[in-house]
Amino acid sequence: MSLLEIVTYPDKRLRKVSKPVENIDGSLQNLIADMTETMHHAPGVGLAAIQVGIDKALIVYDLTPLEEKGSIQVLINPRIVEGEGEFLSENEGCLSVPDFRADVKRFARVLVEGVDAEGNPRRFEAEGYPALVLQHEIDHINGKLFIDHISALKRELYKRQVRKKLKKA
Ligand code: NI
Repeated sequence: MSLLEIVTYPDKRLRKVSKPVENIDGSLQNLIADMTETMHHAPGVGLAAIQVGIDKALIVYDLTPLEEKGSIQVLINPRIVEGEGEFLSENEGCLSVPDFRADVKRFARVLVEGVDAEGNPRRFEAEGYPALVLQHEIDHINGKLFIDHISALKRELYKRQVRKKLKKA
């Protein structure tokens, strides 16, 4: 296993729509293992393949407390089939959007479809925090970031902050 470099905003790769995974083979299992290690190391609760520069529709997430690193979830070709209700995520953040957090309006409940690491079709409902993590990660598959969901004014503040930092570097 190895740690992968996390792509950060404003890298254009984050805007790419990921391609469906067609083969769940050894190289995909290696990628899943590396993404899991990278996510735990960061640490973060979720990671999409495009965040390590690979445009495959694949997400990993772990909803157990960080110190436990217990149950890694893998979803291949995930999609939100249905969403309902409203939920304000507090202080949502992203490993690809460093040093910035914001409250984001999300669905309270989602119906999600995908395939697990063994190739079994999965279809399940999620609510609250797990629903939020799934919406955030599946957004990455579609080239979206959580800052796309906030007000233009707040987004502009973040962009300015990034520009300043890039100038200094
Ligand atoms: Ni993210």
